Amino acid sequence: MSHLIAPSILSADFANLQRDVEMINNSEADWFHVDIMDGMFVPNISFGFPVIKAIKKHASKPLDVHLMINDPDRYLQTFKDAGADVLTVHIEACSHLHRTMQAIKALGMKAGVALNPHTSVNQLTDIIADIDLVCIMSVNPGFGGQKFIENTYHKVASLKEIIRTTKSKALIEIDGGVDLKNYKKLLEVGANVLVAGNTVFSSSDPLKTISDLKKSE
Ligand code: DX5
Ligand code: ZN
Repeated sequence: MSHLIAPSILSADFANLQRDVEMINNSEADWFHVDIMDGMFVPNISFGFPVIKAIKKHASKPLDVHLMINDPDRYLQTFKDAGADVLTVHIEACSHLHRTMQAIKALGMKAGVALNPHTSVNQLTDIIADIDLVCIMSVNPGFGGQKFIENTYHKVASLKEIIRTTKSKALIEIDGGVDLKNYKKLLEVGANVLVAGNTVFSSSDPLKTISDLKKSE
């Protein structure tokens, strides 16, 4: 499978959201990455259900919803109703991750787990078979446009090995600081999905930047 690109709506122009959603519809991107922040799990608040529903109304591609919120089990059904196709929770925010994965899948969504930079991929060994996607944070979550953490390459390679030995089908997603300089190395070590906010939306030609990120040669 060739890799997927998920532009992050966090870096879109919220006053021209429909325009930016249409741009992604018309691009080679695969998913919309939608960042939800609660001001508790991370020191920032992004946006909530009305905005997700507005994006869903115009989006022609799946919504990859990344929850940076405490105790996400409270809202799984509500995110499904708002239009999430992939729903990712943070391992650091869940007391019963296995139960949460089953609940997300029972609602008909793909189940993802995100790991902060300090969290070891070894914590996933006993749950990897139940996970559709692992999101490795390559910045500390909370803000777009931050600097990529180099240790990510090592984490991706270790996770790839866990996935290989357990025959899991989980996809590896990289979130934070992905750019045109580091994306190829991330693919080489095993990434399947690349999130890109600042790199896409600060580009003078976002369609070309997305197309460039899709190239693996
Ligand atoms: C960070 C978010 C990211 C962010 C990525 O907390 O989870 O999805 O939007 O933005 P860039 O690509 O600008 O680092
Ligand atoms: Zn994200």
